[in-house]
Amino acid sequence: MKRLFALLFFLPALTVGADEIPPERQSDLLHLLRHDCGACHGMTLKGGLGPPLLPQSLAIYPREFLLQTILLGRAGTPMPPWRDFLTQAEAEWLLEQLLKGIDDNAS
Ligand code: HEC
Repeated sequence: MKRLFALLFFLPALTVGADEIPPERQSDLLHLLRHDCGACHGMTLKGGLGPPLLPQSLAIYPREFLLQTILLGRAGTPMPPWRDFLTQAEAEWLLEQLLKGIDDNAS
């Protein structure tokens, strides 16, 4: 029983601190990006209902601001909050991918 408690305490610490996103989760996230984010931002992220999410379009904004936009959404606009679906580390990872540019041939 004691051991189980130790494990329960340890697990959240592991996931929250993880900057490294496991490869399977990375492909899930890229899938989410194309399909869910892509529904508004365009399958190739060049824009649609939402603005383009290309490196050159995002470069003008502070990173924190973009991260907040993804996690909390933007009130008064169709941009929804994603914090129920993404951890902070996952949102950061996705933003990293967007800022460096998603290779269109990759998936
Ligand atoms: C229901 C439509 C919709 C979905 C789904 C959506 N977005 Fe957005 N997003 C928007 C709109 C609209 C804006 C612009 C808000 C504004 O006018 O300030 C926006 C803004 C943004 C911005 C800021 C860019 C800028 O130029 O202001 C980022 C980054 C972003 N979205 C990322 C994402 C990511 C990542 C996902 C998927 C996890 C996602 N969005 C899903 C509609 C959407």
